[in-house]
Amino acid sequence: MSAPELVGVTIDGRVVEVPKGTGLVEAALAAGIEIPVFCYEPRLGAAIGACRMCLVEIEGMPKLQAGCTLTAQDGLVVHTAQTSAKAEEGARAMLEFQLVNHPLDCPVCDKGGECPLQDLTFRYGPGNTRMSFSKLTMDKPIPISPHIALDRERCILCYRCTRFSESVAEDGELVAVNRGAQSMIATFEDEPYRDRFSGNVIELCPVGALTSTEYRFEARPWEIQSVPSVCGLCPVGCNIAVNTREGKVKRILSRNHPEVDQGWLCDKGRFAFPSLRAADRIVDPLLRVRRRGFDAVSWDDALDAAERMLRDAGSDVLVELSGSETNELAYGLAKLVAALGGTMRLPEDDPAPLGRPLSSLADASSVATEDGAPLEEAAPVAALWAKQGRRNGADGPGVTLRVPRTANGVGVAHAVARAGAKTSGSLLQAPALLIVSGDDAAAEPPVRELAEASGSVIALTMFQGLAVGWADLVLPGTSYLERDGSLTNMEGRTQRLRRAVIPPAPDELAWLAKLAERFGVELSAHAPVVHEELFGRPFEELGERAPLDVAVPDTSGARHLTRPRGSRLVRYRPLFSGPAVERVPKFEFQRPNGDVELSPEQARELGVRGGDVVTVRTNGTSAQLRARIRRGLEPGVVLVAEGAADELAPGDVEVSRP
Ligand code: SF4
Ligand code: SF4
Ligand code: FES
Repeated sequence: MSAPELVGVTIDGRVVEVPKGTGLVEAALAAGIEIPVFCYEPRLGAAIGACRMCLVEIEGMPKLQAGCTLTAQDGLVVHTAQTSAKAEEGARAMLEFQLVNHPLDCPVCDKGGECPLQDLTFRYGPGNTRMSFSKLTMDKPIPISPHIALDRERCILCYRCTRFSESVAEDGELVAVNRGAQSMIATFEDEPYRDRFSGNVIELCPVGALTSTEYRFEARPWEIQSVPSVCGLCPVGCNIAVNTREGKVKRILSRNHPEVDQGWLCDKGRFAFPSLRAADRIVDPLLRVRRRGFDAVSWDDALDAAERMLRDAGSDVLVELSGSETNELAYGLAKLVAALGGTMRLPEDDPAPLGRPLSSLADASSVATEDGAPLEEAAPVAALWAKQGRRNGADGPGVTLRVPRTANGVGVAHAVARAGAKTSGSLLQAPALLIVSGDDAAAEPPVRELAEASGSVIALTMFQGLAVGWADLVLPGTSYLERDGSLTNMEGRTQRLRRAVIPPAPDELAWLAKLAERFGVELSAHAPVVHEELFGRPFEELGERAPLDVAVPDTSGARHLTRPRGSRLVRYRPLFSGPAVERVPKFEFQRPNGDVELSPEQARELGVRGGDVVTVRTNGTSAQLRARIRRGLEPGVVLVAEGAADELAPGDVEVSRP
């Protein structure tokens, strides 16, 4: 590739060379100079020049210019508000204008302390007001969904939120209504903002007009600690900043990894953390003492019981992994089980890593999943890359993805293989002991059935509701927000997980190391040590934004598979499902409602409209379900979420009006 053509720009007397086409805001940043912005956000597409906060003086031009709309040109001489009295006067005038109706909310506004409007007012704003009339007042705050509150008085009409809705998420649910002074942000037809990426607008809003209902009045920016980590709820592995105050998670923000997530999160990753405080969270080991009854026991007693159960079972031990384990925990479990001669069951068959950055999906002319399930349900932020490619008319080869069903399916398969443990697909008979690891495994009906048929069961789970009734010993599990270690995402990128809050019980590696010691198996209780043993390189090398790893090999000869086309029923695991989501009531409005989903083309062909009841027939069974139209669904694919109409098996399908 040839080197990009460079152009030289002078900004506030500093000469900087940048590739031709670089925006002036970025060129200034490269020179260490800030051009203040409100509406400018390059991830939302071309600049719209709405707020005029970025006014700069350009030599040779009579009027101030909106810097965000300009690109660096050779010989351009720019003066920002820091050196030009004219530009400073422009910034002052724009702020005065913005503040005409802005409420004096800073002391009670969640954005206070991290608000560009507040910061710029301190820097350039008027010290007092020349306005003697009353400010415009509106109802506030308006809940536009259970997650988000809208305060219209604070809105500066930068249109970042509506541009995100229209041009990134492509949901069209957030809109600007009315004109001129009456303009305001609203949801389409006043429906709740339901889209799975809705929470991003809270971070995009440069003022306190869109706030998180979970975070409102919970903390000030100077009181919180921010822990860089990764999301552990799906195979994308978005980079996150976990904000905590007094040992509790208060909010989760994005931490832009340009190859993984581009700074976007889905609502599950952003809003599921209150499940840490679920009413049925297990904090002590539970031992079954009589039929259908448990006693809380000490950790010593629990480890005695676990040792006894393992010795009684001999090599007839099976561990069901959920795919949410860290690489280090999966390796530790596999190392112990390998020493006992037992077997591990992986959460999925052949979880082949993509082997290239998710950002490369933006170059593909089309992106589909191998099984036809919607990409945005299994790997939401990956779907945003695919949408970006479609919007930009990408013409690279089409990609058919195999998406792992679990967050760390790729990593646990690698860890188990490295530990040398036996693995098994389907089992002919139940084992003497089954160890069920993780909430997702404990929530799977086939795993429960197998557990119930086994001689005895140890369950590692966070929530009592998942294990009572069939486990003999329940050991408290921890969340990805409470663990150190690493996760390997669907690309094959191994990223660092940091403990953001102290779990209510010791983390799994701590007690597993003690249990392993009783069997003479050497296992460190410290994730960095286990990581080095597993990957053969220091834990610290993972860094803050991990590069695409080579330690987990790309085993996918089949990642660009073509799959059969035709009318077929696809069952998929909805994004808003699973033990964590079920414990956060605010997700209720986003959860699937058991509809059958059709592509617009198929609905038209059948003469079916959204809300109509249709008959779905497959493999000799049928069910009557309400139809919903899903944009972007491949024609011929008929979707029913897992957990609804379970009698319908995937395969050939016929949909008709009753
Ligand atoms: S709500 Fe926030 S992001 Fe949306 S237009 Fe208003 S200020 Fe901008
Ligand atoms: S896309 Fe996946 S990894 Fe990213 S925030 Fe959502 S659940 Fe977490
Ligand atoms: S940041 Fe340039 S016009 Fe808004």
